Amino acid sequence: MPRLTFSARKLSSFISQKTGAMVIPVFTDHSPNAQISALDTALGGSIQRTLTLGDFTGKLGTRANLLGIRGIKRVILVGCGSRVEFDRAAQRKFAQTSASVLAKSAATDATVDISDLAVDETGAANVCEDIGHYITTETYVYTETIARQKAQPALKKVVISCGSTITAARARTSLAIGQAIGEGANFTRELVNLPGNICTPTYLSKQARALGRRYTTIKTTVLGEKKMAELGMGSLLSVGNGSDQESQLIVMEYSGGKAKQAPYALVGKGITFDTGGISLKPGPNMDTMKFDMGGAGAVFGTMQAVAELGLPINVVGVVAAAENMPSGRATKPGDVVKSMSGKTIEILNTDAEGRLVLCDALTYVGRYKPVEVVDIATLTGAIIVALGSHATGVFANNDDLARDLLDAGQSANDRGWQMPVWEDYQSQLDSPFADVANIGKGGGNAGSVTAACFLARFAEDYKWAHLDVAGTAFSSSPKGATGRPVPMLVRYLRNRAGK
Ligand code: BES
Ligand code: MN
Ligand code: ZN
Repeated sequence: MPRLTFSARKLSSFISQKTGAMVIPVFTDHSPNAQISALDTALGGSIQRTLTLGDFTGKLGTRANLLGIRGIKRVILVGCGSRVEFDRAAQRKFAQTSASVLAKSAATDATVDISDLAVDETGAANVCEDIGHYITTETYVYTETIARQKAQPALKKVVISCGSTITAARARTSLAIGQAIGEGANFTRELVNLPGNICTPTYLSKQARALGRRYTTIKTTVLGEKKMAELGMGSLLSVGNGSDQESQLIVMEYSGGKAKQAPYALVGKGITFDTGGISLKPGPNMDTMKFDMGGAGAVFGTMQAVAELGLPINVVGVVAAAENMPSGRATKPGDVVKSMSGKTIEILNTDAEGRLVLCDALTYVGRYKPVEVVDIATLTGAIIVALGSHATGVFANNDDLARDLLDAGQSANDRGWQMPVWEDYQSQLDSPFADVANIGKGGGNAGSVTAACFLARFAEDYKWAHLDVAGTAFSSSPKGATGRPVPMLVRYLRNRAGK
């Protein structure tokens, strides 16, 4: 998809503009500035008359399309609610509504006026960031495996009319930040949407190498099965035993900070297809298990956004990629494997494979002496039972890290909810034949918590958090990847970088 072009300008007069669509914010307590009033006059009072008709009242999140005049082809009114209640959430809603209407419009270029929004400079910057972000994500369309021509959004170019609250230069910077985050999320969505026969572990390693070529700040290393065996990653390797696809440990090192600065680490579950293995999953909806590399996808999208933003920190992204298949060589229930940490694991259910690849990746990332480690995984069906598709499950061995991720999710509108990793649950993982079992006793009770407790045993040497994104990384209807939790992760890393 060609990149959208974003720019910002101070417009002296609206009616002399040439634009496919002019987006105008309208508050319920309608009191437009001089430029909007002049536009309304040129339109013969259409804006005011639309409000008088009562179909469109300026309620937050609503919109009305009007015919334009002269060089302005369309005028799109976007409801902003009450001027005094125009808070951060309302700002975001204005941007999202504008983005969704523009993505559906046949306009190839658009102007979004923010000069009459009830915001200060920070507010205006936030709106610009949101506009860059949401127009980018709203115009994403999956086409890769569809032969028939799919309708593409017409929009190519967006101009912000920025008034006097923000300089055009600052508005442009914020638009570019939002665009980088949106493109990161779209990259994640594309990888997650791709079918398992294309997006294999090897395909993911190629994507990582491509990132390394594209950004001088990213260095990619890929460890194949031989190398992983040398490192003693018996747990990760056991997952790919039944597959003809080679498992891969993908390492992307981003250096935006000083050479000696300890990195932040992201670790992604990259199961490119999860059949369940010998503990085979039931048939219905098994296709959705191509989304089981959602955590890995988020690592890719976040690394790209971090590199694009040039954050002044170091970040290492590790992806544990494997395909979970049944075969004569597949791991069986009851098998005991030895992890890189030295701990042995009794595999009671081959469908609890995410934790098996992650534990070795968590041990591996310890080598970097990371400041903090966040793993991201479509780990359990149980987190969907607990939180549905609204919140990502946040688990941590450090409450400050948990709180910072929750805060980041809150401000990026990509929320999480904290779950316990209490010692009380650990005994559910006891095994008579190994140091730990890969599923908890108790028939699936607290399944997301016992999964996190398993991971915690391999993350004892550093501050660690685990994001269970099984409910948030993809949506079942319409079926597709959401790009979550890229916004949360980018916000968290920007906060860490002080940007
Ligand atoms: N990839 C699944 C988790 C999942 C389920 C993600 C549904 C998205 C939607 C994971 O590998 C898995 O199979 N987990 C099992 C664990 C169980 C065997 C302890 C589960 O959740 O049922
Ligand atoms: Mn599974
Ligand atoms: Zn899985």
